[in-house]
Amino acid sequence: MADTTTSDHFRDLTDLHGIEADCWRLLQAAVHDKSCGWRLPALATCSNGELRQRTLVLRKIDAHSHRIFAHTDARSPKIKSIRSSPNVSWLFYDATRQVQLQLTGIATVHTDGDVADRIWHGEAESSLRGYLAAYVPGSIRPMPESNLPTGVRIRVPDRNELSAARGNFAVISCEVGTADWLLLQPDGNLRARFTYEDSAVSTADWLAP
Ligand SMILES: Cc1cc2nc3c(=O)[nH]c(=O)nc-3n(C[C@H](O)[C@H](O)[C@H](O)COP(=O)(O)O)c2cc1C
Repeated sequence: MADTTTSDHFRDLTDLHGIEADCWRLLQAAVHDKSCGWRLPALATCSNGELRQRTLVLRKIDAHSHRIFAHTDARSPKIKSIRSSPNVSWLFYDATRQVQLQLTGIATVHTDGDVADRIWHGEAESSLRGYLAAYVPGSIRPMPESNLPTGVRIRVPDRNELSAARGNFAVISCEVGTADWLLLQPDGNLRARFTYEDSAVSTADWLAP
């Protein structure tokens, strides 16, 4: 069951390590909680001098290895960008809790292989329908285009139909290197930064907001 109460996170605002742990608890809750703002981060990439940001659904986190996961179309421009320049940044904002999180890290693209296979098989059919898209995402079309085959526009395809989409499915994982947390409060904002090395917190500092 997703954790949705504001008071369940960031209770002790003097405890740096508690705040760091709560960032990962809230990321975990956000994976399942559609009302949590951290479920829809913006992912920023930069390659060949071209900066881009886009909203993605946070699909999974691994709090132990400090990795986060999202899904996308393997043909989309962000994949080429990540492959050539894997340093990325993620921006999360939860308006209910008034808490922002900026993560930076190294992203990896998984298309074939175990990671993508396991996630593909574990996902609901309804979340995989978009990977049946006939055209490369972002390609110019002569008229308005939903990029869904007509047969599945108003119904969820079954696993058999979805097998044609597997080649378009990619997982983006990101090993987090820094986390910058900012809490807005009427009596003064608070900010902290954490860095990670070899799956462990290597520094934890209060910052001036
Ligand atoms: C609320 C919301 C959620 C989205 N979730 C995803 C997602 O999980 N994966 C994805 O590839 N695109 C998602 N998109 C679309 C992306 O923001 C973006 O338009 C698309 O992936 C193409 O990005 P690119 O051209 O930079 O590769 C979402 C858009 C919105 C508005």
